[in-house]
Amino acid sequence: MRRISLTAAMLFATVAFATIAEAETSPADAIKYRKTVMQAMGAHVAGVFMINSGRVDHPEYLKSQVTALADLGAQGKVLFPAGSGVGDTEALPLIWEEQEQFGKLVAALDKSTADLRDAVVAGDKAATGKALKAVGEACKSCHDRYRKEEKK
Ligand code: HEC
Repeated sequence: MRRISLTAAMLFATVAFATIAEAETSPADAIKYRKTVMQAMGAHVAGVFMINSGRVDHPEYLKSQVTALADLGAQGKVLFPAGSGVGDTEALPLIWEEQEQFGKLVAALDKSTADLRDAVVAGDKAATGKALKAVGEACKSCHDRYRKEEKK
């Protein structure tokens, strides 16, 4: 009996998981997920700056920081689904009105974070500095136009 109910529970878990995986993402979850990716990118950028400036002596972790950042930077294209501009969000409606222009900034995030990873992997200090600047510009140029000003 015990054995059967355990099997049934596992089957139920499998079905429930499949249902969740197939269900359409709610706008609230899309917003939440977007924020977690943004926060994670912010944390990696901070980590990269601390290592690169020598404020912490962990050069052995620079590669994992920039690799994670590049992996996250490549997700930009899925972070702004239609309908995710309403709710607990600082994303401005302009995003969905200027999809072409906005898409260029999403592409710039992908490219600049990939360039940074490649420069670090290649051990190229000059290229790393240049790429780091480009990443900062990619973040800032999008926030300046498409993110609500922080409440003070
Ligand atoms: C293509 C546009 C775009 C790019 C590029 C971009 N962001 Fe964002 N970011 C946004 C928008 C829009 C929000 C507001 C999201 C929301 O509230 O739903 C945001 C929010 C954030 C937040 C706050 C998240 C929260 O908890 O509310 C952080 C931190 C952040 N971004 C960091 C970064 C960093 C670091 C980069 C560059 C590596 C970056 N962003 C690149 C558009 C962008």
